[in-house]
Amino acid sequence: MKKHVFYLSIYFLASTLYSSAQDTKMKTFIDALMAKMTLEEKIGQLNLVTPGFGIPTGSVVSTDVEKKIKEGNVGGLFGVIGVEKIKKAQEIAVKESRLKIPLIFGLDVVHGYKTIFPTPLGISSSWDTALIRRSAAAAAKEATSDGLNWAFSPMVDIARDPRWGRVVEGSGEDPFLGSQIASSMVKGYQGASLADKYTLIACVKHFAAYGAAEGGRDYNSVDMSKIKMYNEYLPPYKAALDAGAASIMSSFNDFDGVPASANKWLLTDLLRKEWGFKGLVVSDYTSINEMVSHRMGDLKQVSAMALRAGLDMDMVGEGYLTTLKQSLNEKTVSLQQLNNACRNVLEAKYKLGLFDDPFRYIDEQRAAANVLSTEAKSVAREVATKSFVLLKNNSQVLPLKKTARIALVGPLANDKSNMLGTWAVAGEPQMSIPVFSGMQGLISDKSLIRYAKGANITDDTTLAKRANVFGMRVEIDKRSPNEMIAEALTISNNADIIVAVVGEASEMTGEAASRADITLPSAQQLLLQSLYATRKPVVVVVMSGRPLVLTNIVDGAAAVMQVWHAGIEAGNAIADVLYGDVNPSGKLSMSFPYSVGQIPVYYSQKNTGRPQNPDNKFSSKYLDIPNEPLFPFGYGLSYTNFSYSNFKLSSNVLAKGSSITASVTLSNTGKFDGEEVVQFYTQDLVRSITPPEKELKGFQKVFLKAGDSKEIVFKISEETLKFWNATLKYVAEPGKFDAMIGGNSQDVLKAGFDFK
Ligand code: NOJ
Repeated sequence: MKKHVFYLSIYFLASTLYSSAQDTKMKTFIDALMAKMTLEEKIGQLNLVTPGFGIPTGSVVSTDVEKKIKEGNVGGLFGVIGVEKIKKAQEIAVKESRLKIPLIFGLDVVHGYKTIFPTPLGISSSWDTALIRRSAAAAAKEATSDGLNWAFSPMVDIARDPRWGRVVEGSGEDPFLGSQIASSMVKGYQGASLADKYTLIACVKHFAAYGAAEGGRDYNSVDMSKIKMYNEYLPPYKAALDAGAASIMSSFNDFDGVPASANKWLLTDLLRKEWGFKGLVVSDYTSINEMVSHRMGDLKQVSAMALRAGLDMDMVGEGYLTTLKQSLNEKTVSLQQLNNACRNVLEAKYKLGLFDDPFRYIDEQRAAANVLSTEAKSVAREVATKSFVLLKNNSQVLPLKKTARIALVGPLANDKSNMLGTWAVAGEPQMSIPVFSGMQGLISDKSLIRYAKGANITDDTTLAKRANVFGMRVEIDKRSPNEMIAEALTISNNADIIVAVVGEASEMTGEAASRADITLPSAQQLLLQSLYATRKPVVVVVMSGRPLVLTNIVDGAAAVMQVWHAGIEAGNAIADVLYGDVNPSGKLSMSFPYSVGQIPVYYSQKNTGRPQNPDNKFSSKYLDIPNEPLFPFGYGLSYTNFSYSNFKLSSNVLAKGSSITASVTLSNTGKFDGEEVVQFYTQDLVRSITPPEKELKGFQKVFLKAGDSKEIVFKISEETLKFWNATLKYVAEPGKFDAMIGGNSQDVLKAGFDFK
């Protein structure tokens, strides 16, 4: 045996022994504690409440929270922001309840805690897993410094319908990219050990397949084949759990006719038995109670159903608190089922070190030092610049010259209310940097930039009212649309270039924010058309939570840059990229549709038996629009040019048990240093079940100085070719394959090989 292999084996043996000794210690501790607990106290641990003095994230909030904590009727709290409030609640639990069991404190730390990063769909467009991990670690540091120890993140639902508002919370359409990001986020949140004061428990959500809600309408039914589920929807959840995620949240939707929160196949057969998950399963917000509306029975029945299915903790609904005792008496649930759930809650607290010190996350000095720190803000600015996707750049109109006279126009050009994006529950919009001041900050003669609003985000008062539920996001101007456009045109007269910042308000995406029409609101389209008519170059900066249908606005624009909702440092980051201090490097993690009628549109769609052929009537196509999206998955430009050449395979035969490589020479042929996301896809030419058109199997984000070249290599092994077959076995089938490398999912170099 080689020396390093020997030492490695010793290391693994030692760490296995150590962790099983730790497990035994934990078990002994919890056995002793549970022996002292009454039935009521056990049920109390399963109760997760929100007192509702933060931003409510559901339509009901908990009542009598203090009293319930004292009586041992609460296991954890969420939605409480600030170390003082958390301290107060913990004191009640450990001083005034009979068994002094500490509370666990959760929050939707979805893209940062108070230092808000870009929305997750934006972050995913960076394809920079090291940076994503760093951003999750920064969020964990800030959140734990303010008393929290449980983050309801990452959201890993594969999403292929941009009408669904929650696409903003995830990493887009692809299982491979989604899995890499899910794993990086969990590692960032949980670090090397949950017992560390700067790490918290990640909560993977929403289990499962929530992203496939019919028609893109939130909370709607999901129905899909198990083959599709295993191959396309489950991988990111599994990757997050493999990375060690210690908790998971059930989803609102039903799956195969049973709501996820009581779906035994999902929560026990798949999660616990097949995947071996040992952590905590929490419901979504009142999702147990909502099974009454799903027509699964009354509250007592659905609560019993959820416990039997393997759901541990009840978020807000108190179905467990109010009915489980009776169900135990009636024997519709067993003591064993209650004990299992209670143990899972207590284990989470144990792993966090709360039994050693219930106040270990509660330290006012840490809060003062780490909340909204300069360090966290610089991560936010860096992540934001890397999340932007340059969609068009005619005649190198970007980057802007710092001496150019600019007309800065648009409802989001000088706005603070929408920069954070949705799901920024602890964020303060007024702390964010608007684009106007970000740009002024980078130039010496500030008078070069003049600003006009030009249009409202929307003139539709019903839509505006719905977007304003958490505060004013859409402010409808007193002036008429014509007056606003006239002002924009006046400042454009003396400008060299027009920068129009348009898009959606932050709450036009997110939970319960599905939209059927995902074009730019008409007021803004009108503004853009008027600006295009000036014949001056117009740079369109699009802020949105989802891929919008940009078909009508791209042609008239000189440049288009997608910037999502970029977080607390939005304006600075946008200025960094517009002025070329940072070269954009983002790539789309979700296809941008040509028309809403194509949805779902995603790069890995199947070939069909009648592949698209413009000359053949009887082929799979639309009469009126192309099959292809406006911008495909993986697409994104840079200020420099990257060229791909010299594609080769180390062999055109891959034998079982061995590996070959696919390589390409990447050259930076432009004038700027820059980063490129090199993407590696495979295609299975014959398969026992119809395969996707192509599948992402690897990517590397590569930095190259202008003029430099580099060989980029991807390994191909049997593992690369595996998929879940008709009997749900994970296999690679011998036969012919294509390997492809390129800068997006459509433009690739390819060569074939045989797997034998
Ligand atoms: C409902 C959402 O679906 C979920 O993502 C979130 O974590 C909970 N509310 C708590 O706010």
